Amino acid sequence: MKKIKTQVGIIGAGPAGLTLAHWLKRNGISSVILELRSREYVEGRVRAGLLEQNTVDIMNDLGLADRLKKEGIEHDGVNLSFDSERVHIPFAELTGGRKITIYGQQEVVKDMTDAWLDADEELYFEAGASEIVDFDTKNPKIHFKHAGEDGILECDFVAACDGFHGVGRKTMPKDNYRSYDITYPFSWLGILANVAPSTDELIYAYHENGFALHSLRSETVSRLYVQVPNGESPDDWSDDRIWSELSTRLATPGFELKAGPIFDKSITPMRSHMIDNLSSGRLFLAGDAAHIVPPTGGKGLNLAIADVKHLVDGLVSFYKHNSTDDIDNYTQMALRRIWRAQDFSNFMTTLFHKQEEHGSYNYKLQKAKFDYLKMSKASRTTIAENYVGLPFETYEY
Ligand code: APR
Ligand code: PHB
Repeated sequence: MKKIKTQVGIIGAGPAGLTLAHWLKRNGISSVILELRSREYVEGRVRAGLLEQNTVDIMNDLGLADRLKKEGIEHDGVNLSFDSERVHIPFAELTGGRKITIYGQQEVVKDMTDAWLDADEELYFEAGASEIVDFDTKNPKIHFKHAGEDGILECDFVAACDGFHGVGRKTMPKDNYRSYDITYPFSWLGILANVAPSTDELIYAYHENGFALHSLRSETVSRLYVQVPNGESPDDWSDDRIWSELSTRLATPGFELKAGPIFDKSITPMRSHMIDNLSSGRLFLAGDAAHIVPPTGGKGLNLAIADVKHLVDGLVSFYKHNSTDDIDNYTQMALRRIWRAQDFSNFMTTLFHKQEEHGSYNYKLQKAKFDYLKMSKASRTTIAENYVGLPFETYEY
């Protein structure tokens, strides 16, 4: 039986777990990370790639942004299309200079994993946590299995950063929280293609055939998505069909979509999941373990990093100032931003996806919301400030 001891036991080496580990280290607090999957799997997992200003600032402060600064692509605005009409939302002008950066989530994970292991810190891959016990005492323990051997990680606090299917949320006493779930009746088919992006800034588009999003990863790699009915498989979508649908849905006068070889295709379900309490005793949930938002607006990764900020505040007050005030406030602080993001993600999803038939009452409401964007700077500002992410101070009321 392998026995390890640390101050904070972290489950999950995704963006939430890795950011937490680095940030705690910066404050002299030790942690050990357990990760169910292999390093290759985690670093190869294709996810979204939109970093809010706050997220980039945190990576910078933690000394983890060298490659991000070189390879990340800063965007000062976003394009929103509806029935072939396009509105540009200039972030810098509407938010006092804030922006977003496009940089793949798996690149963030690679950079943080490299830095953690280079510093000789502990991270066990293929080490699935099976049980979290004694979290209602001062000595919680995480049971795990690594390389065929059972192990116990003893710690002062458990941070479950183990995603939607992890063990953290399942361990929370059921009478401790209320949960909220929405499953949208459509999914995203996402592709990566070896072709120069046909746009400098992202395009979100409503079309009567369904939603489309043009994003990118580099000067030579494009990332695009189309709305598909639930239950479809990537095999139902030939490359030709994908490009043809994308070019129909993204069409606006003067815009031409460049097609190229597709090297990754995957389906993402669209759901919202919330619980209204993120801790029990000394067990704390952060990131996808605590909440899921639909990907429209790219909030998932950024919310995970924001949770970690509040958790670090709490743990630093505990270890450095012997105070439990901030850690006791973790849920309350984190939930303000999470609900804001739930609302924004739901707003973007319902505005740009085809839900009922073209011309229905619902469609007319979508169109009215889009037309309002054209008329009102206030409406454009609402989108801009939510999209780039509100500063942390905004939530400290
Ligand atoms: N033991 C150890 N690790 C586990 C366990 C377990 N029992 N269960 C899950 N994990 C690992 C997963 O393999 C995964 O690597 O926890 C990690 C959770 O990472 P993410 O799913 O990336 O979640 P998070 O760090 O919260 O980041 C949120 O990821 O899903 C996207 O859209 C989401 O961008 C957002 C971001
Ligand atoms: C992405 O680049 O993968 C991306 C961008 C914006 C989104 C979702 C995904 O809203």
